[in-house]
Amino acid sequence: MLTKNKYKALELETPGLYELEGLEIGVTSNCNFKCDYCCAYRRDDGSKVSAEEAIRLIRDIPTLKRVRLSGGEVTMRFEDCVKIVAYCTENGIATQLNTNGSLLSPERIRRLKEAGLSNIHLSFNFTDAESFAAYYGMDPRVYAKVIENIRLCVELGLETVLETLLFGSTQENMPAISAMVHDLGVRIHEIQNSIVMDHAERAGWNAVASRESLVRSVEELIANRRPDTDLYLTCMDRFLDKLGFKEEPGVYFSNCVDGKKQLHLHGNGDILICELCRPEVIGNVYEGTDLKTIYANRPKALDEFLEKLPCPAYDALFSESGDFPCAEAASSRRIERQTSMRTDTADSGACGRRGTRKRGEPSMASKKGGTGRGTGKKGWNRWQKAENRKKNAPKPYKSKGKETESKSGDGGADKP
Ligand SMILES: C[S@@+](CC[C@H](N)C(=O)[O-])C[C@H]1O[C@@H](n2cnc3c(N)ncnc32)[C@H](O)[C@@H]1O
Ligand code: SF4
Repeated sequence: MLTKNKYKALELETPGLYELEGLEIGVTSNCNFKCDYCCAYRRDDGSKVSAEEAIRLIRDIPTLKRVRLSGGEVTMRFEDCVKIVAYCTENGIATQLNTNGSLLSPERIRRLKEAGLSNIHLSFNFTDAESFAAYYGMDPRVYAKVIENIRLCVELGLETVLETLLFGSTQENMPAISAMVHDLGVRIHEIQNSIVMDHAERAGWNAVASRESLVRSVEELIANRRPDTDLYLTCMDRFLDKLGFKEEPGVYFSNCVDGKKQLHLHGNGDILICELCRPEVIGNVYEGTDLKTIYANRPKALDEFLEKLPCPAYDALFSESGDFPCAEAASSRRIERQTSMRTDTADSGACGRRGTRKRGEPSMASKKGGTGRGTGKKGWNRWQKAENRKKNAPKPYKSKGKETESKSGDGGADKP
């Protein structure tokens, strides 16, 4: 079934030739949730990628096969999302929209379907409203809304993927989660191995699954898989042999394509290797970086990344030093590179900057007094504590490129 999924196909091929086949567009990094495990919303500097800009860039990349809209919560810029999806559909490019599912509506789902969205990809980590509300510090009614929207996506015929983050709060509940995914009518369940995020709110957030928990959870998931459901396991490809996992029909360990075939575009034009696990800025489209030739004229930081192929998921499980021992594992998987295209001198001039937000600086949302946390008191307290912690956090984010349009919060966001 999965091999027929146009969007997912790229990750099932072993990356051989490095070329830009996938672009993740951070339409906005603003988000109405503030998940502890996530650092993406921390990059919200108020900048946005408009549909017009996205389409201009997409049009200029002949190798592009798929576009993922992910931030942040990109449905906060819903109209831009629809236009980008429609353009991609007209031009044979597969699309995925990643969302927490809270801001969808029947009308919005219908419009995404009409625009030709290939996959809608929703985060799904909890099987009841109380656990959801307690974890995210939100009103339990948000959970009911998300569940309603998942059902609607299925009913209205959108190819629906539910993604569960495998971490401390989900690792003991995988059988129940996969049963509920099936009950909701979803037939593609993606399991995202959690990555240690070096973000300001929870410095060194490390509730990633241990090796033992990961093995147990994956084994349970495979054992409980319904025959009509595809399991799609992400960020485990570097060590699946080592842990004794095997692909089989309906069980897929996706190849990591970040940096190799896919890059992330931030709202200010920065190009990041991967928004979550390698937020290193390798260029800026408003400062001369040409996405069409980025693999031919590799910026130094991209070249170094491809040389070492670091993997935080591998390091979290197998390394004490965290000093890229995974490069060895990568070469043992015979990932080939296209050395003939390499030009060492062609650096766009924007190498090596880390794309993390300015630490210690209040988020735009909090400057405006918004918490993005719903009404829950627990969430408010947690957010306050986090704000205090942030004041002591190090490492600046130097946002470059295009001037930001508006300073975040909900400024300019579409209403569902
Ligand atoms: C950054 S979110 C953006 C899309 C949308 N707001 C959502 O939550 O689905 C995209 C994906 O990143 C994943 N993610 C966030 N933090 C992560 C972490 N520490 N490790 C691995 N994946 C993470 C989330 O589970 C989510 O599916
Ligand atoms: S909803 Fe998505 S973007 Fe927002 S904080 Fe959570 S994981 Fe990050």
